[in-house]
Amino acid sequence: MCFKREETHPVLDIKETVCDTPSTKVSERNRPLRNKPNLATRNAVTGLTRRRFMQVAAASTATIPIDSATEATEVSADETPLFRFIQWNDLHVETFTPKDYELANKKARYLVESLNAADHCPVPDFVIAVGDMIHGAHGQESLVADLEEFIALSSDLTCPLYPVVGNHENIQGEGNPTKEGPYWNTFGRDRTNYTFDHGGLLFVIINNSGAPSSNQKEVGKIRNRWLAKVLADSKDKPKILCCHIPLVPIREESVLKESFGFSSYRAHDEEMLAMIDEYAESILAVLSGHIHLTAAIKRKGVYHIVPSGTASYPCDFASYEVFADRIRVRMHSLPEKWVTPSTDIHGHPRYKTDYTDTRHPTHESYMKGNPLERDFEIILPPAMHLSNG
Ligand SMILES: [Fe+2]
Ligand SMILES: [Fe+2]
Repeated sequence: MCFKREETHPVLDIKETVCDTPSTKVSERNRPLRNKPNLATRNAVTGLTRRRFMQVAAASTATIPIDSATEATEVSADETPLFRFIQWNDLHVETFTPKDYELANKKARYLVESLNAADHCPVPDFVIAVGDMIHGAHGQESLVADLEEFIALSSDLTCPLYPVVGNHENIQGEGNPTKEGPYWNTFGRDRTNYTFDHGGLLFVIINNSGAPSSNQKEVGKIRNRWLAKVLADSKDKPKILCCHIPLVPIREESVLKESFGFSSYRAHDEEMLAMIDEYAESILAVLSGHIHLTAAIKRKGVYHIVPSGTASYPCDFASYEVFADRIRVRMHSLPEKWVTPSTDIHGHPRYKTDYTDTRHPTHESYMKGNPLERDFEIILPPAMHLSNG
């Protein structure tokens, strides 16, 4: 049974009908995740070839967990990546007081300082900020002020940052000149739907910040026409897509719909999903945010990767090491002093219960993902291998 009520989301600042009663019971907090399982073993027979075998998820038309449907694949044993990048999302930097997300600005500053100091991993070639860099929940003026604060906090970042528009950069106003204007003024009018190439890998940055309601509007149609052309023009080139709103449900759908509490638990963009299916052979992954929990699943061979972001619990970001034939993906937790259980939006204190689903039987695993969602490798099809030179 579900008791419906109107709620103003504590962090998204929009009203929707939500349910008080979760569909799944729960909760085992603070149980540490085990270290990642041993994914790869050296090939004892052909060890001199410096290649190794690993288990990877098989391609499927269904959305499947990445720890199932495995098949053996041979990958190189190269230890030095061609390049690295970092995904930040959902930082929710805010100038308003009191802050909706405890310590959000301090965490953002920590991200910049720890990246520059190579605390979590070597300094990357670039950062992709996959939306909700700012909170912007207090009207037009707060959009401007929060963007200025984000720029101030990240001004000494020692690598380039590629921005993606989130619903908090424009108050759900995808393409609206007034609501999205502060973002354009900060990052450039051309930094909404755009592409860039790094090391032979094409990054396709998509503004779906208004989804699902924008999908049927002109702005959504223009966005998808643009994407269709990009995908058709680059069908022989490996690529990664980045969009703030996830395209697929990244937890059991009926549970996620309730625990997130808003229709944007997925983009509901069947047209975009059909395009991704059509060009799945060249699309390695779709990177998103918005949901404020950490997950990775696979659909028709394409990984959908959603770190929680740092503003809310479990406060994760992701690193990517790109090799010629694979990409290693790792989720990173912030140091304990920056992890804030009170900012969990899928359990206490927002709800009376901590949500779980079938594959994530503890709330800890529901929020952080299972070990294989936190440390895994994307294997590139041979036709999509990158050049070492
Ligand atoms: Fe967010
Ligand atoms: Fe968001």
